[in-house]
Amino acid sequence: MIKIGRVVVSLEMREVYQEGRLLQVGSRAFDILELLIRAEGKTVTKDEILQHVWPNSVVEENNIHVQLSALRKIFGAGSQVIRTISGRGYRLTIPTDAAELPHLRGAVAASHASSVRPSGLPVCHTPLIGREAAIADVTCALKGTPIVTLLGSGGIGKTQLAIAVARSIEAASEWEVCFITLASVSGVQSVINKVAEALGVGPAGADVPLQALVDATRERKLLVLLDNCEHVIESAATICELLVQASADLRILATSREPLRTRDEKFYWVAPLETPDVGASRQTILDCSAVRMFLAQMTALNTSVENDLGSIEMVATICRRLDGVPLALELAASRVAVFGIRKLLAELDNRFQFLTGGRRTAPPRQQTLEGALDWSYQLLSATERTVLHRLSVFPARFSVEAACAVAACGRLTRNDVTDAIVGLASKCFLMTTFDSKTKEYFLLETTREYALRKLYESDEADQVLTRKATCHAPAYEQPYGRVFGAPASGAGLAMEAVASR
Ligand SMILES: Nc1ncnc2c1ncn2[C@@H]1O[C@H](COP(=O)(O)OP(=O)(O)OP(=O)(O)O)[C@@H](O)[C@H]1O
Ligand SMILES: [Mg+2]
Repeated sequence: MIKIGRVVVSLEMREVYQEGRLLQVGSRAFDILELLIRAEGKTVTKDEILQHVWPNSVVEENNIHVQLSALRKIFGAGSQVIRTISGRGYRLTIPTDAAELPHLRGAVAASHASSVRPSGLPVCHTPLIGREAAIADVTCALKGTPIVTLLGSGGIGKTQLAIAVARSIEAASEWEVCFITLASVSGVQSVINKVAEALGVGPAGADVPLQALVDATRERKLLVLLDNCEHVIESAATICELLVQASADLRILATSREPLRTRDEKFYWVAPLETPDVGASRQTILDCSAVRMFLAQMTALNTSVENDLGSIEMVATICRRLDGVPLALELAASRVAVFGIRKLLAELDNRFQFLTGGRRTAPPRQQTLEGALDWSYQLLSATERTVLHRLSVFPARFSVEAACAVAACGRLTRNDVTDAIVGLASKCFLMTTFDSKTKEYFLLETTREYALRKLYESDEADQVLTRKATCHAPAYEQPYGRVFGAPASGAGLAMEAVASR
């Protein structure tokens, strides 16, 4: 991505964004912009533009002015980003802010460069949508807390948010940043080795003692982004705690589907992208971050949705029914590109069969919607699984009493069910509402569909449905409107120190 003033340009995707919002730029205007960017600040003559943009036709010079004026509007009236060089042509003024200079140059060469920076931070070629406040909150939390953990269900955008935060810290400070993904490791020694290797500690390929790792990081001003901790949660927690206790200058930004539960940790629940209410106006729908992301994905796939209200409302329904989860929206957009929007809408009840075929290069847990849930589901205890299946009979919010009335049967006592609810909430399977006096829970639609399938695969569906039908504790039949909450572990969307719990 190339940042020029207030806009960000992707030459590969031929897209222009402003504050995460995809702008409509005509193809000729984009051709001129691309030419100017590739010239790296040198003057591009009118002939060069005419030849590049209208290669097989003879057109008036006036056409260039029309396209340039469209481009100048994007950069802001009166801005001098595109400068006219009298009698010669036009040039892009490289931002005078010194910090931006290498960024622009680097970005111009990005299509040829490696996709990984020295810090190991992956380069993101698509803009992060709807996370401006989250980036600011997490960046701020890292100033005062040694460990910040980004929590959320699979595909909600933890890694992308963490990368954006790390990148902003890397750009604005002298902190060394190191990106480490734990997705493919298991066992405490493998985790230590992986961290040691990324930080350049100890001989490659050998087992590194934890103390050696601690000693080697003691003097470094370091931000470690530890990605995907959930399946090695104990090991990750131990290592993180030791590292930050030994060094006042070390910060850890972890991503996980459940809290590390270390001393001095703050956690941040990554919310789904914002989805439109039923009956929202056209503009409100288009302003929602989930809709913006879905449409941006479709544009990236060279496809689009009709501009009429009916089509926009279909997009709104899709975003709502997919809970505003970026991975689900990404998979859905790639299906729209092939089958169209109506077919996607019709297949939402069948989402696990339909939403497959993610990026070939994505990890298996992100290639299908079902894969995203399987990855977390296999980390649940047997009791948590059973309770999750049973809770899937609630189409909307329910109280703990209702949950116990339905799920505490067979071998499971009310205490077992209550414990399981806490576990399911901390592992991001259950959400809780903020707006009621008594705490209530609900399952996101995709999680509920997944759990219902598991319930029907078991032999207790009839029994659980009967218990639900005769349950008188507070529960609702209508899907929740716009309530979204963090899991029930006491956290909110704001941060809260685990240590204090
Ligand atoms: N705010 C966003 N704007 C645009 N795309 C996003 C956003 N958040 C996430 N995505 C996209 O959604 C997909 C899933 O995001 P990400 O990998 O960050 O999820 P995750 O929560 O880390 O998932 P996992 O638990 O599997 O590690 C990615 O392809 C990413 O590019
Ligand atoms: Mg991730």
